[in-house]
Amino acid sequence: MNRKRPATADEEPTGPPSAAEIAAFVTRAEGLVADAGDLAALASAEAELLGRRGAPNVWKRALGGLAESERRELGGTLNEARARVAALLADRRRTLETLARAEVLESDRLDLTEVLPLPGPGHLHLVNRVREELEDVFLGMGYEIAEGPEVETDWYNFTALNMPPDHPARSGQDSFYVDVGDGESVVLRTHTSPVQIHLLERGELPIYAVMPGLVYRRDTPDASHLPVFHQIEGLVVDTGVTFGDLAGTIDTFTKAIFGADVTARLRPGYFPFTEPSAEFDISCTICGGLGCRTCAGVGWIELGGCGMVHPAVLESTGVDPEVWSGFAFGFGIDRVAIMRHGIEDLRSLVENDVRFLTGV
Ligand code: PHE
Repeated sequence: MNRKRPATADEEPTGPPSAAEIAAFVTRAEGLVADAGDLAALASAEAELLGRRGAPNVWKRALGGLAESERRELGGTLNEARARVAALLADRRRTLETLARAEVLESDRLDLTEVLPLPGPGHLHLVNRVREELEDVFLGMGYEIAEGPEVETDWYNFTALNMPPDHPARSGQDSFYVDVGDGESVVLRTHTSPVQIHLLERGELPIYAVMPGLVYRRDTPDASHLPVFHQIEGLVVDTGVTFGDLAGTIDTFTKAIFGADVTARLRPGYFPFTEPSAEFDISCTICGGLGCRTCAGVGWIELGGCGMVHPAVLESTGVDPEVWSGFAFGFGIDRVAIMRHGIEDLRSLVENDVRFLTGV
């Protein structure tokens, strides 16, 4: 036998192969398999190498003419070569399948950074902006800014504010209780009024302070309610403070935030921790007081509560109500934000819709 080149499909070998020819076939198979760039190319390489007209099958047919021992030896070598090439093909197939899957994943990926280009440098959320503006107004009036914890004991949220256990006003504030200590003794604060108690306990008088922060109530979200919202509390304790000071303060900040043509009014109200108490409304900023959907046709929007600090509150913190008097108020910052910007639904503030967030 003097065939120098390994057999190919185009050039059928005629006789049985030499060991060198078999080795050359394997080398050639290695090259073909490695060069197959995709599954289709691999399939045609496989047909060429191991198909009916592939060298191993052709050679196998030629073994018949050999003597028994020679046939067995050559047959063994041929089987090994065949198995080696089959393993190469299987290996390459696994690799190509993995690559193909990765390609599909890559092309199916949604690149959201392209769909929603980032809207340039960010800015404070509307609520935080309004909160800072409110703080500025009160800083300008000589107030300090104070903060208190969002998780309070029953004492700070209710009892010290003249709402002892069983007080009916408690049920008006559907609370989230925290599972700590005795049942219903620790609560996510339902208002910022407990910060009044922290400030009074500090024992530094007089007090001129506003206290903004988050509060929590068991409310179902709707256009005018959120279960988590922001309030800002005000507390003034000094000698000779009157209800007139309270009314003037509310009018001043209303005009500073909403503009000179918005007016505030006080209506008799009830809070256990102020006496007398009032609800305060502002003229509707949407319709200018004519009556619309936002103000339910009445021309006024309720913003918060206020009143003269109840003597029992001063006493509960060791402050002598015979010497000191004061007023307090509290209202929703989120509500101020939507009123001032003509937003109809409080929920827009927390839905994280980038079109809303960039527009305000
Ligand atoms: N804490 C009251 C509320 O959340 C508001 C309020 C504050 C009323 C201060 C009077 C004085 O409804």
